[in-house]
Amino acid sequence: MQSARINVELGSRSYPVVIGTELLGGVGEILRDQGLGQTNALVLTNPQVGALYFSALEQALAAVGFTRVVRHEIPASEEGKNWDEFTGACAALLANFPDTGAVPLVILLGGGVVGDLGGFAAAVFRRGVPFVQMPTTLLAAVDSSVGGKVAVNFGGVKNIMGVFNQPRLVVCDLALLRTLDAREVRSGASEVIKYGAVCSAALFQQLEEGGLERLLALEPDELTDIVAHCVRLKAEVVERDEFDKKGIRNVLNFGHTIGHALELSADYALTHGEAIAIGMIAATHLAQALGKCPAGFAVRLRDLIVRAGLPVSFAETPGLFDRVIRAMQMDKKFRDGKNVFVLPTGAGQWEQAENVPWELVHEAVKAVLG
Ligand SMILES: NC(=O)c1ccc[n+]([C@@H]2O[C@H](COP(=O)([O-])OP(=O)(O)OC[C@H]3O[C@@H](n4cnc5c(N)ncnc54)[C@H](O)[C@@H]3O)[C@@H](O)[C@H]2O)c1
Ligand SMILES: [Zn+2]
Repeated sequence: MQSARINVELGSRSYPVVIGTELLGGVGEILRDQGLGQTNALVLTNPQVGALYFSALEQALAAVGFTRVVRHEIPASEEGKNWDEFTGACAALLANFPDTGAVPLVILLGGGVVGDLGGFAAAVFRRGVPFVQMPTTLLAAVDSSVGGKVAVNFGGVKNIMGVFNQPRLVVCDLALLRTLDAREVRSGASEVIKYGAVCSAALFQQLEEGGLERLLALEPDELTDIVAHCVRLKAEVVERDEFDKKGIRNVLNFGHTIGHALELSADYALTHGEAIAIGMIAATHLAQALGKCPAGFAVRLRDLIVRAGLPVSFAETPGLFDRVIRAMQMDKKFRDGKNVFVLPTGAGQWEQAENVPWELVHEAVKAVLG
């Protein structure tokens, strides 16, 4: 399997996710086939990704008649996902495309940071301009480029300023993943393990039976198969609960409640996927304490996380525990002072728990702070 096309069915906001290898050179035709007829574009990227892929993208756009392609960069990694960079992207849109005669297509070429920040800027500029996600990390390919949650961090809280804004198209060229650091590939594998753990026993088993190592080695067939599988799982969840109102979409937050809090409290020492790996271990600890998760599954999950080269704990430093608890209390899922956790209950299964005693939550956090 070297290519796939998955439609995210959301009525008038539906869009395809095109997955393949060596798609970059032909991306202009893919845009035109999708009815995107613009001749102006703002490409949001970062210095690392821009240096590797911007010129090829620019050529591909020129080949189908784009006359003005502006490049705007934000700093690489999570430190770039903030309010100042968000307003910087808005300013670039306004400065380069000030009038209605030149409304640009916004193209987000990068990982989850570029995708989340850029999708938010595209939502508010002129009350919304069309945008396309071109994920360049495994994490963005399997998760953040699909589903329309776009946001930036603010006031020490993850993703607290944002909106729902679906892209018009996702073009996922898996050849671009070949330049990723091994650490970033592992980070993406963390979200893949998340899907297997709570959404699909079949995917979990595929990973256990060597799929994980083939994924980490970016073997083309396995990579396409797994990315397409994850995108299908995400699309199904998003289609049933686009605006995260029914509790269905919460499944994708497995590992994220404690993970997000740790990600920000650890001063960028952890990648998103690493923080989520630790968060999955903590949430599983909590599930076991509540009698919801068989020990056998907890062992299987931990084994996969270790095999992926991901951390299962993080070194405690003075004040870290308190910062994690404080950050967690600001979680967007929490309502009226009640906490909410996604607990794994066996491969491909989950349950939501509300109002979990804080002593148990504290214990679960302590269990992953070594
Ligand atoms: N919106 C959602 O639904 C959703 C879901 C999951 C995660 N996220 C967000 O995604 C973010 C994490 O995304 P990420 O892991 O992609 O991180 P990232 O965007 O910071 O990218 C990671 C690093 O890889 C580099 N890079 C990217 N593509 C490359 C390539 N092809 N070759 C070489 N280097 C490359 C980047 O420059 C960066 O240094 C977090 O902020 C998280 O909150 C959002
Ligand atoms: Zn995530």
